[in-house]
Amino acid sequence: MNFFSRIFSKPDPVLAADLSVIGVDMHSHFIPGIDDGAKTMQDSLQLLRGMQEFGYRKVITTPHVMSDFFRNTPEIILGGLDNVRKAAAEEGLNIEIDAAAEYYDDFELDKKIDQEKLLTFGGNYLLFEVSYLNEPQNISSLIFRLITSGYKPVLAHPERYPFWYRRLEMFEEIREKGVLLQLNINSLTGHYSPEAKKVAEHLIDKNMVDFLGSDCHHAGHQQLMQRAIKTKALHKLLGSGTLRNSQL
Ligand SMILES: [Fe+2]
Repeated sequence: MNFFSRIFSKPDPVLAADLSVIGVDMHSHFIPGIDDGAKTMQDSLQLLRGMQEFGYRKVITTPHVMSDFFRNTPEIILGGLDNVRKAAAEEGLNIEIDAAAEYYDDFELDKKIDQEKLLTFGGNYLLFEVSYLNEPQNISSLIFRLITSGYKPVLAHPERYPFWYRRLEMFEEIREKGVLLQLNINSLTGHYSPEAKKVAEHLIDKNMVDFLGSDCHHAGHQQLMQRAIKTKALHKLLGSGTLRNSQL
């Protein structure tokens, strides 16, 4: 290829991936008014319709549970789920809706592990996230306590934690402790940051991605997903055989 053809040739087009291959999304914020996701039932219905159009047959929506901002309880989440299911049925949507939660690693989570049954999906998978700002000092003991309490911890969007960008071996260590990793589909577009994209691609290359999640909060995320499904990295991930979404 000479200099001019390099400049003027376009990259190979990538076909849009069909997400019905995995069929199930396990990270989103579709229960209206209880976190920073859907604000109204109309938002929820629009987002659910969007998921259906991407090929999903089921969503497991995961409202934030965070002691500082979103003090959601299983009662609040499951009550909200009921309302969303009813509205979706009235709207004639053809998508199964379930709920769990996205637990933030804070002192209340630590207390709740002993005090209540946390919300899970599939075979006791528990979705959790940690601070974006500071490396959690308690992560080993948190993982140990979750596992010994019978949960299978799933770390939300590992590619979004900057303090691990220079220590990518941390992801292997975390997985060796028994934690599964959930990638955000939109990380592949560079939406969160160029570094998050790079780390997401690294995790795919190393076959370390156990779940793919939309982490969809609003319609803008679904517009980005239209780009994400056309990335080579997503095609690679869908073909890798590492994803467990379809089993949910
Ligand atoms: Fe989330």
